[in-house]
Order: sequence, then C-alpha cells, then structure tokens
Amino acid sequence: MKTSSFFGGVIGVALSFFHAIEAQDFATHGTYTHPDTGITFYTSSEANGTITGGGELSMVSWGGFTFGMALPPSALTVDTHEYIGLIIGSTPTGKGGWSGIVHGDKQSAAMPNHLMLLAWPTGVGDQIATSFRYSSAYQPPTAYKGSANLTQLYSQVNSTNWVLVYRCQNCFIFDDPSQSTFNTSTSQAKSILQGWAQSSVAPTDPKNPMSSFDQHNNGMGEFVVQVQSAMQASYAVWATKTATGPIATGTATATATFTPIPVPTATSYDYIVVGAGAGGIPMADKLSAAGKSVLLIEKGVASSARWGGTIRPENGWLDGQNLTWFDIPGECNRIWNGGTTGVACTDTDQMAGCILGGGTAVNAGLWWKPNPSDWDVNFPAGWKSSDMAAATKRVFSRIPGTDHPSMDGIRYLQDGFNVITTGLASANWTSVTANDVPEKKNRTYAHAPHMFSNGERGGPMATYLLSTSDRNNFHLWLNTSVEKINRVGGHATSLNVVPTNNGGRIGTVQLTPGTGRVVVSAGAFGTPKLLFRSGIGPADQLQVVQGTEGTTMINQSSWIHLPVGFGLSDHFNTDTVVSHPNVSYYDWPAAWLTPNETDRTNYITKRSGPLAQAAPNIGPIMWEEIKGPDGIVRHMQWQARVEGSNGIPNGNSMTLSLYLGRGEVSRGRATISKGLSMIVSELPYGDPNDLATVATAIDNMVNALKTIPNITWNLPPPGVSGADYLKTVDLTYANIGARRANHWMGTAKMGTDSALVGNGTSVVDTNCKVYGTDNIFVADASIFPGMVTTNPSALIVTASEHASDLILALPYPQTGHGGHHGGSEE
Ligand SMILES: *[C@@H]1O[C@H](CO)[C@@H](O)[C@H](O)[C@H]1NC(C)=O
Ligand SMILES: *[C@@H]1O[C@H](CO)[C@@H](O)[C@H](O)[C@H]1NC(C)=O
Ligand SMILES: *[C@@H]1O[C@H](CO)[C@@H](O)[C@H](O)[C@H]1NC(C)=O
Ligand SMILES: *[C@@H]1O[C@H](CO)[C@@H](O)[C@H](O)[C@H]1NC(C)=O
Ligand SMILES: *[C@@H]1O[C@H](CO)[C@@H](O)[C@H](O)[C@H]1NC(C)=O
Ligand SMILES: *[C@@H]1O[C@H](CO)[C@@H](O)[C@H](O)[C@H]1NC(C)=O
Ligand SMILES: *[C@@H]1O[C@H](CO)[C@@H](O)[C@H](O)[C@H]1NC(C)=O
Ligand SMILES: *[C@@H]1O[C@H](CO)[C@@H](O)[C@H](O)[C@H]1NC(C)=O
Ligand SMILES: *[C@@H]1O[C@H](CO)[C@@H](O)[C@H](O)[C@H]1NC(C)=O
Ligand SMILES: *[C@@H]1O[C@H](CO)[C@@H](O)[C@H](O)[C@H]1NC(C)=O
Ligand SMILES: *[C@@H]1O[C@H](CO)[C@@H](O)[C@H](O)[C@H]1NC(C)=O
Ligand SMILES: *[C@@H]1O[C@H](CO)[C@@H](O)[C@H](O)[C@H]1NC(C)=O
Repeated sequence: MKTSSFFGGVIGVALSFFHAIEAQDFATHGTYTHPDTGITFYTSSEANGTITGGGELSMVSWGGFTFGMALPPSALTVDTHEYIGLIIGSTPTGKGGWSGIVHGDKQSAAMPNHLMLLAWPTGVGDQIATSFRYSSAYQPPTAYKGSANLTQLYSQVNSTNWVLVYRCQNCFIFDDPSQSTFNTSTSQAKSILQGWAQSSVAPTDPKNPMSSFDQHNNGMGEFVVQVQSAMQASYAVWATKTATGPIATGTATATATFTPIPVPTATSYDYIVVGAGAGGIPMADKLSAAGKSVLLIEKGVASSARWGGTIRPENGWLDGQNLTWFDIPGECNRIWNGGTTGVACTDTDQMAGCILGGGTAVNAGLWWKPNPSDWDVNFPAGWKSSDMAAATKRVFSRIPGTDHPSMDGIRYLQDGFNVITTGLASANWTSVTANDVPEKKNRTYAHAPHMFSNGERGGPMATYLLSTSDRNNFHLWLNTSVEKINRVGGHATSLNVVPTNNGGRIGTVQLTPGTGRVVVSAGAFGTPKLLFRSGIGPADQLQVVQGTEGTTMINQSSWIHLPVGFGLSDHFNTDTVVSHPNVSYYDWPAAWLTPNETDRTNYITKRSGPLAQAAPNIGPIMWEEIKGPDGIVRHMQWQARVEGSNGIPNGNSMTLSLYLGRGEVSRGRATISKGLSMIVSELPYGDPNDLATVATAIDNMVNALKTIPNITWNLPPPGVSGADYLKTVDLTYANIGARRANHWMGTAKMGTDSALVGNGTSVVDTNCKVYGTDNIFVADASIFPGMVTTNPSALIVTASEHASDLILALPYPQTGHGGHHGGSEE
C-alpha cells in the first residue's frame, strides 16, 4: 500500500535521494549573471527557510539553494547534449554538506535511470568535489558509467555557502551501460525537469568524489527549466572557458563479490518455488505438506527476527530484542523513510520488497477477506468466489487478522478515524467489521484489519513458513537469485542461481527429472523478468535480454511468445487532503531512532500502544461502488491516514487516498532494460471512464463529509469539482509516486484464452501453468486478470492456497522426459 508517499515524509536512504519526484515546481525562477565568469543562467531557487518533516517537495532549504542552467542558442531547434550549470549550495552548520541535481527529461526527474550529479566542498580551499551517480532503482546510487563529463569553470567556498560553475557534456544523454540509452531532447520539449536535493551533513569522506553520503535532510524537489529562457547567445564562448578545477567523468566501481555456496550436485527437487512472498510461502508450505521435496529460493536476506533478520535502528535501541523493524507494526513504513538499503528490490523502478516475506514483510499488513466480486468479476471458471471459499477459509483460520492489534485491546490515535466517521455516519454510510461482511463494500467503512498477531507483524512468515520449515523435505535458500529457468522445449529441467549476498548459492539446481516443477512467485515485476530471461515473453523483450546475455540465453528457436508484462495494473491513486482541529500528527519517522519513551516501553514490555498499530494512523477505510459512464461498476477504496501530503504539512491534516479498484479498465506494461531491470514503461492509469468515475467518487466524498463541523478541504480546494481537481494532478511517469498504490498485478495474466492461439490474451491457464510449457507455473500477483477491491496481500495468499491444490492435482505429462518419480534429498 501507499502509506507515506514522498510527500508525507521522506525519501529513502542514505543515498537514494529521489524516489520519484512530483511534477510540482515550488522554485522561484529568474535570471542571474555570475559576476566572476560573466555567464548568465536561468535560475531556479529555493528560499532560505526551515525544513519541516522530511523536506519532501520543499519550498525552502536551510541556507537556500540555487541551480542555474545556460543552453546553446540553438537548443530549441537542435538537441544539445550539454549545458553550463551553476549550483549555489548551502552548508548552514558550517560543517560541510552536499547538494545534488537529477538530470531529468521532459517527463520525469525520478531518481531511477537518470544521471545524478552530486557536489560538495572538500574542505580544502575553494575545492568542490563532483560525482556522477546512477541507479536503476530506489537504491543508493553507484558510479555512473555513461559518457557524461564535467569541467569546473569556477568554484568558491565560504563557511555557509559554495558556488560551482561547470560545463556538463553529454549530460542529456543517458547511456549508462545498464540502461537502454535515451536522450533528453531540448528541441522537442519546451521544458525539461530537473530534480534537486540538499543535505547539511557532509559525505563520509569529502575529499573522495565516490564517498558515501547520507540521505538529503535539507529539502528536495523539482524544477521545470524552460529551454527558451535558458538559451544564451554567448554559450559557445563560455563553453570554451578554461577549466579551473578537476574534470570529472563517470567511473567504474568494483562490483561486490560474495562468498557463495555451490549448489549441491546429485540433488534434485520435486518443486522449486521462486520467491518467498505472499505467493511463494503458502505454496511451499502446501507442496511440502503433500510430501513433495520443495526448495524455496529467495533473493533477499531474512527480515523478521524469528528467521534471523538483523535490520534494526542504527542507534541500538532495539538491540537485544527478538525484533527487527519488520516485526513492529509501528515501524511498517520504514521502507519509505530511509529504509530501502538491503530491503527494496534493486532491479525495478518501483518500490518493492526483495526480502524474506516480500511485500508481506514491508507493507502495512492490511488483511482483507476477499470481496467475492473480486473473483467473480475478474477470474475465469474455477476461480469464482464459490471455488475460492475453501482456500479463503483455510487462509483466515491460519491468519485471522485483527482490527485492534494492540495487545491491551485498545485502539490508539483514533482522532482521525473519529472525525471522518462522524461525517460518514450522518451521510448514512454504514459502519462494518470488514472481514465479517467482505461483500458489503458500497458506502461502508471500517477499522482497518491487519495480519498482525501477538502485537507483531505475523502473517505468512509467522504461520505458513513456520509449518513448512518443520518438514525435512523443505529447504530454504536465502540470498540467492534465480537467473533463468533452463528448459527443453516447454519442459523446465533446471534453474541457474547466483548469490545476491554472502551464503547465497551458485550453480544449476535440478528439478526431479520428468516430474519436477517450477512455481514462479517472484512478484509482478520479478516474475516477468524471470520469464523473459527464460525465453518466455514478447519478441521485443526477449530481444533486449538476448542483446545483454547473448548466446547464454535460450536459442531463439525455443522462445515462447506470450504477452508477459502486458496487462499491468495497479490501484490508481488520487490523494485528497483535509484538516481538522481535533486531529494531530504522530511523528512516525521519529519512532525509528527516538520513539516516545512511554510508547516504546509499552510496546517492548506489553506489545501495546501506538507502536503495536500500523503507521501512520491508518483508518478509516471506506468503500463505494459507482457505475461508470461505460456501464462498468468500479470499486473505490478510500484509505485515510493522519499525515499531510501534496504540499499540505503534517499537523492537523489527514490524507484520504482514493484507490480505484475492481472495474478499473486501464492497463499498462512492464518491460526490461538492457541492464535487466524492470521498468513501468506504460502507466496502467488514465482511461477516461476510469477517471470520470474517480471524479464522481471525489464529489461523493466531499458531499459525505460536509456535515463535519470545522473540517477544511485542502485538496481539492473548496468549490473545485472532482473532475477539475483531477485535471490538476499530473498523470505522468514523473508523478507516478502520487498515482500508484504499489499493488502491481497482472503481468502474467490468467485466462482460458491462450495467447499462443489466435487473438488469445492469457499467459497462464486456470492451473496457473504457463501456456506452452508443461511444468512452469506462476502463483503471485502477476496472474490477477484485474484489479481488486482492497489491498491485495490476503488475496494473493488465497490465490496461492487455491493454486497449490490445482497444481498438486494436475497429472504429470506423458512425455519422453526423465521418468523417475520423486526427488532425492540433500
Ligand atoms: C538563513 O536564515 C537564517 C535564519 O533566519 C539566518 O540565520 C541565516 O543567516 C540565513 N542564511 C542565509 C544564507 O541567508
Ligand atoms: C567530454 O565529452 C565530450 C562529448 O562526448 C567529449 O568531446 C570530450 O572529449 C570529453 N572530455 C573529456 C575530458 O573526457
Ligand atoms: C558566502 O557565499 C555566498 C554565496 O556566494 C554569499 O552569498 C555569502 O555572502 C558569502 N558569505 C560570506 C560570509 O562571505
Ligand atoms: C543520443 O544522442 C547521440 C549523440 O547525438 C546519438 O549518437 C544517439 O544516437 C542518441 N541516442 C538516442 C537513443 O537517440
Ligand atoms: C523470537 O520470537 C519468535 C516469535 O515470537 C519466537 O517464536 C522465538 O522463539 C523467539 N526467539 C527467541 C530466541 O526468543
Ligand atoms: C439518512 O437516512 C435517514 C433515515 O432514512 C434519512 O432521513 C436521511 O435523510 C438520510 N440522510 C442522508 C444524508 O441521506
Ligand atoms: C545473507 O546475507 C546477509 C548479509 O551478508 C548475511 O548476514 C546472512 O547471514 C546471509 N544469510 C544466509 C542464510 O546466508
Ligand atoms: C538455434 O536455432 C537455430 C534455428 O533457429 C539453429 O540454426 C541454431 O543452430 C541453433 N543454435 C544453437 C546454439 O543451438
Ligand atoms: C509520549 O506519549 C505519551 C502518551 O501519549 C505522552 O503523554 C507524552 O507526553 C509523550 N512523551 C513525550 C516525551 O513526547
Ligand atoms: C451504492 O450505493 C448507493 C447508495 O445506496 C447507490 O445509489 C448505488 O447505486 C450503489 N452502487 C451500486 C453500483 O450498486
Ligand atoms: C469550531 O471551531 C470554533 C472556533 O474555531 C469553535 O469555537 C467551535 O467549538 C468548533 N466547533 C466544533 C463543533 O468543534
Ligand atoms: C481476432 O480478432 C479479429 C478482430 O477483432 C477478428 O476479426 C477475428 O475473428 C479474431 N480471430 C479469432 C481467431 O478469434
């Protein structure tokens, strides 16, 4: 789910200074002639001011920040690949700091896949260190290896500020070897986006341009640079000015090496399950319970302390406890607050958990009994709600969930819930206990149920993974990534694995000859990536993989062409914001290092209090069903939280996020890049009937809450209709952080119409078997043919429970392959 967006608090990591950036330009623009060089720049400035909260999309920066750009006079007619830049950075504590720029394009200045420039005073005279960085995901950027270079033309440093003038060549060409090359066109776009961020803390080793550094703490945001305004007749003269400082280029860094364990030879498995998340964990449990030898492979490290996880607050307050942040409900939005390193996937441009438990380790644990319509409307025969009843019952007997997770039974921090539900009640919306009446989802509202148990996260890692681990026919490999499935025609024989960390496995792991099977549960991005690398997918994607892997990829004659990656869907999100004097913000990000003493003690000793609940004060959750102009009934889920967003500060504000669920007709596409990272290349949002229905939902909510005394609508502002408000919220890749819910689905769609035949559209059949194969299955969010009503974790677990029955019941193909039944053991 999307609890805290980049707005609400925070950009991840050390280093990951831009998650994604909103197309919201809060800068003051002007023109400035730098006195020492005489160069004139189009400037974008943040005023000197105090940063509040995480400083996301800040309108100020402590000490101020200015970025200037000069472009050749022909930039509007001939693409320029270079510019002259100006950075006036601040070091307000007098102890150094860094400033950064993300070179965006006309659509986006998101951190992934764009060239970042960091600069800081080295502490020696007027020296400034510059560093090109790059990342294909929400991860600490590494050295950029593309062709950009930077020549310093002027630098000056004093105790509170510094100035750098530089020429940046090839800085509008994005050609790190790991990415599919693209150029920012200054002639096609009248404006380009640039991101910025600043920190008042110096990098670890300021004299080293490749030093590590902490995440920004002094604001971040985005500028729109008007190409016309930045064009300067004297550009060519300025560009030949003599260098005054070092010339920086992208440099290669050593790739990490791990101490791996070789895959045991002479061992094979009946089932190899790829990915230990909401799909893979229940699958492994059910298959091992049936007596099969099962290997579950997870590329991440352990998360929950129970499984050996160790990721805790750096200052040690949680040390010695049998807990990590993944276990504590109140720390659940840590991944959005500086906690991506070693947790978030490094190979997708969206936020995802690549760690034991997958999404169920890093999300807010919302746990919904499936709305029957989610099966009945979206899924084919065999997957209707009546078919799913038994699996649902099993899932909810193991993980019942709770809407009052604190062990003392008290619900804490209910101001927001109380304010909003007063209005809903007087508008005749109905209060429900959601999991008692999963079908009652029209003008109803509820306290949010979570998978939590015993005051901890719980969920699949505390249930299914426990029972499967007790069996000696079950094996779990952490720190290990599956590179590809080796197959002969449509029959998988083995998998190639590589370590992602120490203790990971390397080599080729065998399936039981003849009868072995693979279940891919690597998530809506991980699953298509593995299929592409195994020669299963559309030709254009397989060609990208072939371009990178060459002849190590399966021969083209064995490619299986299915529309993998198409059909991408997600809850389309629109944030609205209200304020009310009764509502007050709880500082969840501060609970990482300095939790309230009382709350900390109550949690540690009794598993009670606010930290036993999900951050940030989630609730109420509200639903409405609305028929769109095209006659399709669409499901809306409103998720309230006590947190500002979209430029409205924390304090007494609440963000009410509106998710468009079942009935959504928009679909997008996930593709693979040269560096084998996954990218959302077509947004799964924006169908006009989807938008029109969302507009109605906003109008209805404004109307429903109108009786609440003293409520203020910040967004949409009073008097602005839902439709007019939607026109102001960008529907672009740049703004994907505000439009996504991270409930990605649909990239290996289930259906009876095999895409291998005629106009068929489906990737897997109703046994979850990939068409054209006899032993490759998919069981995760990828198979969902359409968006669901609620947050999807429990539906994915339920789908996996159901799939395990079908797969176990499926006869083995009568082929010439192999023959002996049952696997040998390690
Ligand atoms: C920024 O504002 C603070 C507080 O008003 C002031 O002390 C400081 O000198 C200002 N810095 C700059 C660079 O103007
Ligand atoms: C910088 O890049 C430009 C454009 O590719 C190239 O012509 C120039 O030689 C490079 N300079 C250095 C010092 O690498
Ligand atoms: C430090 O440099 C900044 C930027 O050039 C300038 O505005 C400021 O006046 C300087 N401060 C001092 C004390 O010289
Ligand atoms: C980007 O620009 C360079 C230099 O003009 C050109 O060689 C290259 O083909 C361009 N790449 C793309 C993807 O347009
Ligand atoms: C850690 O917590 C888990 C879950 O409550 C429990 O099963 C396990 O025994 C605990 N381990 C230790 C060493 O206390
Ligand atoms: C709510 O229901 C009551 C009783 O049926 C009715 O009198 C009232 O008008 C309704 N209020 C709204 C806002 O629809
Ligand atoms: C996985 O890697 C982490 C980080 O290096 C290490 O601490 C952990 O022990 C490894 N886990 C296994 C099971 O090897
Ligand atoms: C790949 O398949 C082609 C036929 O499409 C064949 O000519 C070629 O020999 C095969 N290459 C290998 C390495 O098997
Ligand atoms: C901690 O929370 C308690 C209970 O909400 C409150 O009374 C107390 O003032 C808080 N303490 C601090 C130091 O903020
Ligand atoms: C949802 O409830 C409202 C109010 O009762 C009703 O007007 C509307 O038709 C319902 N929506 C659907 C799709 O049934
Ligand atoms: C609304 O606010 C006013 C003053 O701001 C206050 O006097 C009044 O009691 C509030 N009303 C309610 C119902 O909270
Ligand atoms: C495929 O779609 C086209 C256009 O909708 C239609 O004319 C054709 O009959 C379809 N073919 C099959 C095999 O369904």
